[in-house]
Amino acid sequence: MGRRKLVVGNWKMNGLKAQLGEVEAIGALAARHPAVEVGLCLPATLIAAADGVKGAAFIGAQDCHMKDSGAHTGCLSAAMLAQAGAGWTIVGHSERRQDQGETDTDTAAKALAAKAAGLKVILCVGESLDVRDAGDAESVVSAQLLASLPEGAAADWLAIAYEPIWAIGTGRIPTMEAVETMHRALRAALATTIGGEAEGMRILYGGSMNGDNAAELMGITDVDGGLVGGASLTAAKFAPVIAAAV
Ligand code: PGA
Repeated sequence: MGRRKLVVGNWKMNGLKAQLGEVEAIGALAARHPAVEVGLCLPATLIAAADGVKGAAFIGAQDCHMKDSGAHTGCLSAAMLAQAGAGWTIVGHSERRQDQGETDTDTAAKALAAKAAGLKVILCVGESLDVRDAGDAESVVSAQLLASLPEGAAADWLAIAYEPIWAIGTGRIPTMEAVETMHRALRAALATTIGGEAEGMRILYGGSMNGDNAAELMGITDVDGGLVGGASLTAAKFAPVIAAAV
C-alpha cells in the first residue's frame, strides 16, 4: 500500500495576522492537490485564526508540553493547541533540542501527550555536521529515533521528519544517495521496534527543501514528503514544493 505524501510547512517564529492571506492561499493550493496531504505548523498565536481560512490544509503547532496542565509558565498543552484548531504538532525539532535543551525522553513524552489530546505528530530527528563528517550519521540518527519514539507509535498518528541540522536554513542539502541511505536506515530501525507498522509510516525529509530540489528529494523511494521551513512562508514559494509531491 502506498504512503500518501505529506508536505508540511514549519513557520517557526514567523507570521503575524498580516500573513493569514498566505495561509488561505496555501489552503487553496492544498485543495488543488488532493493526492498530497498539506499542512502548516504555525506560531500558536495564529492557530485559531488560521483554522478559519485553512481550506484543505491542516493547521499544526510546533511543540507542546508533555503535561496536561499545571505550573508551567509560558507553555501550552496539547489539549490547548487542539482546542485552538491544531490537528497536528511537531515534536523534537532540532531548534527545540538545541535552544530549549529538550531530550529524546522529552520528545517521546510530548508525542504521547499530543496523541492523548487527539493530535497527530511529526517527530524530528537529525545529525550535526560533526556526526555526518565522522561517518556516523545513520547509526546516530537511528538511535535518536528509537530513543525518541513514543509508546504505541503507529502510522495513523505519527510521522518522522529526518532533518540534518546542518541543512536547516543553510541552503545545503545532503546528496540524494545520503538521503536515500538514511531514510532506508530509519525505516529499518523503526521495523525493529514496531514491525510491519514501519512500512506505512511516513518519513519526511527536511532541511532547505525548496521548489528546485523537492521533486528529486521526494522521488526517493523512502522519502514520503517534506518538512519545509523558509520555502513554506509564502504560497508562491510553497506551491512548487507541493506540486513536486504529486
Ligand atoms: P528550512 O527549515 O526548510 O528553512 O531549512 C526546515 C525545518 O527546520 O523544519
